[in-house]
Amino acid sequence: MTRTIDGNSLRGVSATTLWTLRNRAEEAKRPAPIIDDPLAVELYETIDYDYEKFGKPSQSHALRALAADAAARDHLARHPGASVVNLGEGLQTSFWRVADPKVAWISVDLAPVMEVRRELLPREEQIVECPTSALDRAWFDEVPDDQPVLIIAEGLFMYFEPDEVWALLTDLAARFPGGSLFFDSIPSWFSKKTVSPNGLHLTDRYRTPPMPFSLNIVGAAAIPKRIPAITRVDDVPMPRGRGPWGNALLMSFADAPVLKNLRPSISLAHFAE
Ligand SMILES: C[S@@+](CC[C@H](N)C(=O)[O-])C[C@H]1O[C@@H](n2cnc3c(N)ncnc32)[C@H](O)[C@@H]1O
Repeated sequence: MTRTIDGNSLRGVSATTLWTLRNRAEEAKRPAPIIDDPLAVELYETIDYDYEKFGKPSQSHALRALAADAAARDHLARHPGASVVNLGEGLQTSFWRVADPKVAWISVDLAPVMEVRRELLPREEQIVECPTSALDRAWFDEVPDDQPVLIIAEGLFMYFEPDEVWALLTDLAARFPGGSLFFDSIPSWFSKKTVSPNGLHLTDRYRTPPMPFSLNIVGAAAIPKRIPAITRVDDVPMPRGRGPWGNALLMSFADAPVLKNLRPSISLAHFAE
């Protein structure tokens, strides 16, 4: 990457990819980072943007990315040469972190984001780009059906309407038997804040887009009752980070029976064979 580009081509929900990129890249730039991601740092430094409006950097998005990478590595170890679909991939650099020589990687995001990816990220034969909505089932046809697929949706479903998420989950399970879906969710109190008239402000210069879809751990575990083609939903523990994010006592507190339904969660849903 030899020049800078203006990040203001990304707006609304698509600009949130600059928030998560910034958090991963700031983490990767630290002396003893929890994530090794030189490409994210390069991307971050190439995109000229008012990143400060997102407030103080947080480890959360690097930790979530590490959980998704672990799910991808595990899936690919059990199904060598399988496909990974990354829905709402944004400026994620998971493909290069996972670095699996056999994987077929399907990258789905809206056209303005895909344009930035094309401009700034290395071209790879293993990556199929789908500049389309995750809700547009046309991308389904890009997924080879010789192996069970892993679908990753990091920081995506909360921006959709609940009906859209339920319909998508139903269609994914029907279309990709034996596959799995990694996704994260926000609790309802957080969702309500984002859709309230005052909204959720990270700083006085940045209000997050509305996040109408919420799901807690109990709700995620109950998905199979609503969608029988999803046979099981595992709660994925957040990897340990630095400071409070690595503190065993605080982590067990966040996992206490009532509290665990009030925090964000990560789920791995399994589709029937
Ligand atoms: C919070 S960012 C997360 C990006 C990336 N997954 C990550 O973890 O860094 C949300 C992403 O979802 C994308 N997005 C929003 N609506 C979408 C849709 N209908 N279809 C596909 N992508 C969408 C945005 O463009 C943005 O890249």
